[in-house]
Amino acid sequence: MNILITGGAGYIGSHTLIELDNAGYSFIIFDNLSNAPTESLNRVEKIINKSIIFEQGDIRDAQALKNVFLNYSINSVIHFAGLKAVGESVAQPLKYYDNNVVGTLRLLEVMQEFHCKKIVFSSSATVYGDPESSPIKEDFPTGATTNPYGRTKYIIEEILKDLCVSDPEFKSVILRYFNPVGAHESGTMGEDPNGIPNNLMPFISQIAVGKREYLKVFGGDYATHDGTGVRDYIHVVDLALAHVKAIDYLSSEQFSREHSIFNIGTGQGYSVLDMVKAYVKASDKKIPYKIIERRAGDIATCFACPNYAKEILDWEATRTIDDMCKDSYQWQSNNPDGYKNLQENNGSFKF
Ligand code: NAD
Ligand code: UD1
Repeated sequence: MNILITGGAGYIGSHTLIELDNAGYSFIIFDNLSNAPTESLNRVEKIINKSIIFEQGDIRDAQALKNVFLNYSINSVIHFAGLKAVGESVAQPLKYYDNNVVGTLRLLEVMQEFHCKKIVFSSSATVYGDPESSPIKEDFPTGATTNPYGRTKYIIEEILKDLCVSDPEFKSVILRYFNPVGAHESGTMGEDPNGIPNNLMPFISQIAVGKREYLKVFGGDYATHDGTGVRDYIHVVDLALAHVKAIDYLSSEQFSREHSIFNIGTGQGYSVLDMVKAYVKASDKKIPYKIIERRAGDIATCFACPNYAKEILDWEATRTIDDMCKDSYQWQSNNPDGYKNLQENNGSFKF
């Protein structure tokens, strides 16, 4: 029996493949490569020392999905596939609703047709909008999202809840990620954003390797310990391990629909300047910065209460901010252009 991994060539998906393999699971990857190169999968193969099965296709293409279900025995799905750039979602909302919401509908329809009724879904802390306080618990209000990307996550959560009510056999686990950062400890896999990074950590890494000059810190007047925004950064390998626990849980006797939505964070909030300091320490490089005006749509503070995931999934983050910065720098300095130069080279990377 296999797990279908939609979006498995991407940043979080590719790291999760390694942890699933370590835990003895087998999987099929389904990705349209709209935001990932196949080189990420080559790297996974090197790390796990075996071949993996990759099917190129789009989740909106029902026939392509059906072919995968016809060709392989699949008993559950981890659904990473989606577009995730907040700014782009504001500029092109229909593209986001089509890709993320319509794509998920097609996937769920095909799953139902093939009696595959277990899914883990990549949601986001963005569904909480601007929370009244932190730490954020899973029962805090959701839906007051600030952008179309966030709304696609909220809508998909609601679709999954409705589906599980309509079909008692259908089981979903919703993981609300906080801020995934870092890279695999091998230094061969990591985040590879297109163009100028929007997110903090990849931007800092590119400064550390000399690709960018300085960091624009968005706002220095928030009500936080140093005036800059506070977030819950989580190491991507800890996040990957949460998916293994979620898959275990879906098949266990303990599974209960009432306990199926989890925050995946560390419970610790760090400011932008805390992150800069930690990165300087890990990389021994200078990270120049200038504090500028706030970014529209940003909130002051957002960090998780991770207790529920520990209690029910038996999962907790163990990697520190220093691990996150060290692994991120190792990846970025080994691969200053990410996977790209290797793609042009037909993946002929020598380990
Ligand atoms: P990513 O862009 O690296 O990976 C997503 C993958 O999905 C890519 O490989 C892309 O090619 C694929 N994909 C996109 N649309 C597809 C489609 N229609 N059909 C098939 N494949 C498609 O992103 P990531 O950071 O690995 O994020 C994975 C998931 O986690 C996404 O759903 C994202 O919204 C969610 N998430 C990410 C973060 C984050 O900060 N990275 C935070 C919260 C939630
Ligand atoms: C953003 C998205 C969120 C998404 C998440 C992961 C917004 C408003 N939110 O979260 O929906 O789920 O990414 O993809 O875009 N910062 C700087 N300078 C920079 C970049 C960031 O100061 O160049 C600051 C931000 O103001 C924030 C912190 O760093 O305080 C983290 O920013 P970022 O990495 O973009 O994540 P979020 O804004 O938390």
